[in-house]
Amino acid sequence: MRLRPVETRDIGWLVAMAGDPVLIGEHNWPGSAVDADERTREMTARLDADGMIGEWKGTMVVELGDGTPIGDVSWRSEKWGPSEKSRCLAFGIALLPQHRGKGHGTEAQRLLVGHLFSRTSTHRIQTDTAVDNPAEQRALEKIGMVREGVIRQAEYRNGQYHDHVLYSILRSEWSG
Ligand SMILES: CC(C)(COP(=O)(O)OP(=O)(O)OC[C@H]1O[C@@H](n2cnc3c(N)ncnc32)[C@H](O)[C@@H]1OP(=O)(O)O)[C@@H](O)C(=O)NCCC(=O)NCCS
Repeated sequence: MRLRPVETRDIGWLVAMAGDPVLIGEHNWPGSAVDADERTREMTARLDADGMIGEWKGTMVVELGDGTPIGDVSWRSEKWGPSEKSRCLAFGIALLPQHRGKGHGTEAQRLLVGHLFSRTSTHRIQTDTAVDNPAEQRALEKIGMVREGVIRQAEYRNGQYHDHVLYSILRSEWSG
């Protein structure tokens, strides 16, 4: 498996995935789809700007060894206080349904954390997931992320608030 940059040929399936609750997964589904044309324009613009790989915001394709794309990972900046040193990276993942439950999500997130610690200066990497998403919680624990606690009614998604679990790993804890 590898993480590779998004290419123009990926935009179609990435947009389709984001617009379908089954493909993106119930825990990533906001409740309604963003307009596909608008999302295509936005992704094309990001691809033209920086290949969708920046220090504080990016998206990469998860690809199997035989070249099959199976989903994507993305990251963004979050900040806990006014100092620039309070900035950290947060990430997300979505695998297509037929590729879940085979260890790929664990491996992809291990690769992503390694990529982000090696290519950025971030001190801390975090992510959060719904309390009723055991596959993601287990995958995060398997790569050494520390469960920090429950953020009550953190995400408004699909018509209601959902409790999330916050996970993190510090640069000093990452062993690759
Ligand atoms: C969440 C996701 C990334 C996990 O990746 P995955 O490839 O399916 O998970 P893995 O096969 O690596 O399994 C990780 C662990 O979770 C367990 N697991 C997998 N599916 C599970 C399920 N439905 N319920 C409970 N545990 C589950 C596995 O057994 C494994 O633990 P183990 O090694 O101790 O047995 C993937 O399922 C996915 O993309 N889901 C849809 C989108 C999503 O929910 N993204 C996260 C939103 S924050």
